[in-house]
Amino acid sequence: MNDKNIESTLCEERLFSPPAEFSAKARIPDRAAFDSLVQAADENFEGFWSDQAKAELTWHKPFETVLDDTNPPYYRWFTEGELNVSFNCLDRHLKGKADKAAIIFEGERGEVTTLTYRQLHQRVCRFANVLKEQGIVPGDRVVIYLPMVPEAVIAMQACARIGAIHSVVFGGFSAESLKGRIEDAEAKLLITADGGYRGGRIIQLKAAADRALQGGCVSIQRVIVLQHTGHEIAMTGGRDLWWHQIEAKADSHCEPVWVNAEHPLFLLYTSGSTGKPKGIQHASAGYLLGTATTMKWVFDIRDEDIFWCTADVGWVTGHSYTTYGPLAVGATMVMYEGVPTFPDPGRFWKLCQDHKVTIFYTAPTAIRALMKWGDDLPASYDLSQLRLLGTVGEPINPEAWMWYYRIIGNERCPIVDTWWQTETGVHMISPIPGAIPTKPGSCTLPLPGISAAVVDEKGESITTADRGGYLVITRPWPAMLRTIWGDDQRYYETYWRKFDGKYYVAGDSARRDEDGYFWIMGRADDVLNVSGHRLGTMEIESALVAYPKVAEAAVVGRPDAIKGESILAYVILKGDRPAKNGDGGAPLAEELRAWVAEQIGPIAKPDEIRFVDGLPKTRSGKIMRRLLRTIAQGETITQDTSTLESEAILAQLQGKA
Ligand code: WT7
Repeated sequence: MNDKNIESTLCEERLFSPPAEFSAKARIPDRAAFDSLVQAADENFEGFWSDQAKAELTWHKPFETVLDDTNPPYYRWFTEGELNVSFNCLDRHLKGKADKAAIIFEGERGEVTTLTYRQLHQRVCRFANVLKEQGIVPGDRVVIYLPMVPEAVIAMQACARIGAIHSVVFGGFSAESLKGRIEDAEAKLLITADGGYRGGRIIQLKAAADRALQGGCVSIQRVIVLQHTGHEIAMTGGRDLWWHQIEAKADSHCEPVWVNAEHPLFLLYTSGSTGKPKGIQHASAGYLLGTATTMKWVFDIRDEDIFWCTADVGWVTGHSYTTYGPLAVGATMVMYEGVPTFPDPGRFWKLCQDHKVTIFYTAPTAIRALMKWGDDLPASYDLSQLRLLGTVGEPINPEAWMWYYRIIGNERCPIVDTWWQTETGVHMISPIPGAIPTKPGSCTLPLPGISAAVVDEKGESITTADRGGYLVITRPWPAMLRTIWGDDQRYYETYWRKFDGKYYVAGDSARRDEDGYFWIMGRADDVLNVSGHRLGTMEIESALVAYPKVAEAAVVGRPDAIKGESILAYVILKGDRPAKNGDGGAPLAEELRAWVAEQIGPIAKPDEIRFVDGLPKTRSGKIMRRLLRTIAQGETITQDTSTLESEAILAQLQGKA
């Protein structure tokens, strides 16, 4: 990004006040209550976080230092303190909540299992003993490659109980990715399953694990295999053990291992714009504190809520808002293994209805996908228990936001558009549902104790509304990543070097409006420069999606001799795609270009529109813009295209169909 202005021309002016009935019962009921928290943190930053840490966590040994900033940006929090994360998530709820449901699990084929806090505690203790019997000691790395089943939470919590560091690898990742992560972390133990269910099919996890371990992963001593699908798999003698057999023999009493506040809790690998995936390393106390405060502030969680975060535990969202956050605050959560469209696209709404979900948290990509099926489908389920809706993962198009608000929330539920990252651990910028009026497409304001800013190339704060820049965090926060596993230097280079260690650089571009609200424009490298005008790809996509016939769109830049970059838009229509593709060919392309010109300005008009049946997505549902750029630039594809449904789609993307 150079220091020219990022022009943001898409104006979203709708404003939605928190519904009065919601605010009346909310933990943070109005703007004044929010402001006083923000002010408390501003006036006495360490005092604020110290109070939160004392109120939300149960300590074995109290901390003295709040923030140790003697070696920036390697910050440390609550340094003398000792605690155990699993004790905080389970044991402390046994008095009073032992028979409360912790996890309501529904499998893709419809079977439901409930685990109370007492039952979950017992299973975690047993499995923690299993880990100890397998020689796992504090600090050892354990890789977890499981489907979205309660045992994934049990395995993670069991690691936390004995001070082992877990590294969850999403079940949709290939053997090759699994191998890379095992080797980088030098993990001693792998926990997997025979298979998982997805869209009515079985995902062969054990087979993939076997391939990953073939001729590599020398650090792995044992593999624990969960029997889930029950189909025949190969077990390697001396290495592989069945989960149910060893759990049955294990003792259900397991003292938690008290660890230092800074003891690593987990690694989670995430890809950046360059290089191999980075092992994002999180610490125990600060991270857990962040999950607890955000469960209360952002999700307004209460004892009677049924909370459902649809993310897989393979992603940070599943860590913070399935495994840790809900349990830290003693809540009841729903867990679902399977796709939103199985056996039909009403599945999510049926789950909400059947389990009386009150707080629902999902991704814009899912909302857009379900929106395609129309309003009648959600209307045929009873969604009256919902009181709060959340979104995460990418900027939400105002059209999708409105649909979520009207059709799913019946204009009764506030929407929390939560901006955060694997690296930030927990929510950073998000509306407080009872206190902050929302605008479709904006994540609104930083949470109390979080200092965010938009700065220019020189690191100076941009205060003019509609001028975009780098989104940075200007003060450390408890749940922040501590480093990249085994690579302190890369941690500095990736997140801090740009402004000489002064700010954490998120890698996103953003702007703030006249109310100080943040609007995420996309990753900084996704910003287009067209004739010297900077345009967020997201804004063009939002405009396209706002067109009634469009279901989904992805916009990339292409080098252009005259304009610097030209705009290529990939568009999925709601109905059938026109037989004739390509620029200008179909009258619809002209219609869309005119529409975008009308919505944003002629500058944002796509130079070419390609109608396609699918877009390349990462396993977490993010559009692979880098791949689209490669295609747009006519270069050879080196990225993994295995998430694409068919070769035909690749041909369409390349403009060959
Ligand atoms: C990136 C982080 C945080 C859990 C899921 C993704 C984008 C995330 C939002 C949002 C706009 C968002 C950003 C961010 N992002 N939430 N509410 N509005 N953009 O975690 O894989 O670490 O990705 O996702 O670009 O940097 P992640």
